[in-house]
Amino acid sequence: MQSRITEELTDIVSKAFAAAELDPSLGAVRPADRPDLAQFQCNGALAAAKAAKQNPRALAEKIVETLRDNPILSDITIAGPGFINLKVSDEALGERVAALGKDDLVGGWRSNEVEKIVVDYGGPNVAKPLHVGHLRAAIIGEAIKRLMRFVGHDAVGDVHLGDWGLPMGQLITELALEQPDLPYFDEEFDGTYPDTSPVTLDDLSRLYPQASAACKENDERAAAARAATAELQAGRRGYLALWAHFVAVSREAIEREYADLGVSFEFWKGESDADPYIQKMADDLRAKGLTEKDAGAEIVRVARETDKKELPPLILFKSDGSVLYGTTDLATIVDRVEVLSPDRILYVVDQRQGLHFEQVFRAAGMAGLFPEDGLEHLGFGTMNGRDGKPFKTRAGGVLKLRDLIDTVDQKALERLRDGGFAQDVPEDDLKRIARQVGVAALKFADLSNPRTTDYVFDVDKFMSFEGKTGPYLLYARVRIRSLIERAGGAPEHGEIKLKDPAERDLALALLGFGDAVRTATTKRMPHFLCEHAFSLAQAFSKFYASCRVADEADEALRTSRLLLAKTTGKQLDTIFGILGIDAPRRM
Ligand code: ARG
Repeated sequence: MQSRITEELTDIVSKAFAAAELDPSLGAVRPADRPDLAQFQCNGALAAAKAAKQNPRALAEKIVETLRDNPILSDITIAGPGFINLKVSDEALGERVAALGKDDLVGGWRSNEVEKIVVDYGGPNVAKPLHVGHLRAAIIGEAIKRLMRFVGHDAVGDVHLGDWGLPMGQLITELALEQPDLPYFDEEFDGTYPDTSPVTLDDLSRLYPQASAACKENDERAAAARAATAELQAGRRGYLALWAHFVAVSREAIEREYADLGVSFEFWKGESDADPYIQKMADDLRAKGLTEKDAGAEIVRVARETDKKELPPLILFKSDGSVLYGTTDLATIVDRVEVLSPDRILYVVDQRQGLHFEQVFRAAGMAGLFPEDGLEHLGFGTMNGRDGKPFKTRAGGVLKLRDLIDTVDQKALERLRDGGFAQDVPEDDLKRIARQVGVAALKFADLSNPRTTDYVFDVDKFMSFEGKTGPYLLYARVRIRSLIERAGGAPEHGEIKLKDPAERDLALALLGFGDAVRTATTKRMPHFLCEHAFSLAQAFSKFYASCRVADEADEALRTSRLLLAKTTGKQLDTIFGILGIDAPRRM
């Protein structure tokens, strides 16, 4: 038995095509467009008829003849010009749902090939607080990594800290003005630098905006910051020691915020880690004749004749010898190949950086650093305010992630209190549950939109207990749990009997999980899983409204329904696991 019912039906129908001497690949079966008329459909007879220059309906009749003997199909009809509509017998559906309940993947799909995958996501920058722009990278990246693992790949996450660019030089020069006596600035100093950081997180959050504003206003300051950046990159001892403090202080704060979102990374590497690879890589590019001098800078031309839009060259070195984002991303590929030898690298980064990644991927391909088709930019749209522009605070500033999480927490607490949940729950538990519900609402809202589209931040909508929301799903899960508790537990295994139409629909929903996982994986689009979770929860609600469960008198039916509920809970848990949603046991 295949893990996906559509796969199993495709197999059966393809054989019927082959038996009729038609192309078996036309036998693909998918869920019916009109669930009121059929469960599954195959449209291949039309294409087959065209190829064979025959009447499609007659051809469909011929195919259907072979299918009639199949014991799992309870109804086969031909609709319109030759669509084949299929229904699976209740018995066969029941058997498959029972098997799914015992399966570790709960009917999920697994990839045949196993790849080593690096997921590059998060991309926060040292000395800058995480803001709303980092939210989607974190949420989508984490879901993609977990999805890849679920289907069998060996996936690891790398945060790729922005720790090697101009902001570092800006911070160094700003601190030098404030505390010029620190040993880090004394070029003569040859002792050991202090272990404790001369700056706190608060200092950094003050110094960085101060520095960047000063550099914008004052050319001299800007030049000094650029020079300091180049010196840092060239390995000036004091600057490196100071920079290490900046990174450590920032990282601690960044890690805490990601933890609040249930996001974590196997690797905490940064742009700076690419540095040791840069010279050798550049020599290699030169030897291959891929670099050119251009007004003092050194560049790699990546444009192709077939390009519709002009693609500017990748700048390898600026005229002062310092490196840019493209250079570090290219050298990071060298680092990853050396240390991890991945088959694929997925970059979960704002789609406005599409051009940058196009340059990097082409250069990597041209230089033979990595096959271009193994590098994928999974871009995402922005989270907007009601005005349709990237979300801002009321004062017009960038919203810090911390403040966003607080807002959502607060809202979740209100909702729980409104629902009368708070009364008998200790304050600590309530806070924890509110955090779970709040973060789930935020994550589900983000992930349920197709990755590439923009969406509007609307906390009231995200937090609603009705509609396609995180809280709706969490609540469905909680209801299943309490139903099973009330019944005194659910059986381990047993037979699934489908009697009521709502039971059948729930069974079909459960069996759709494999297709959802496969589509989400191959398209790299987690929202297909969200869609599935939502229709599953809806099917469960209908089932629960129309079927007795705990108080069903017929013992076999009671067992079957408890099993259906349990399996639904297990599948929802699995989906929460993939989406990175931490579900409360009660709410
Ligand atoms: N630090 C960058 C930013 O804040 C994102 C980094 C994305 N990853 C990468 N390999 N370039 O925009």
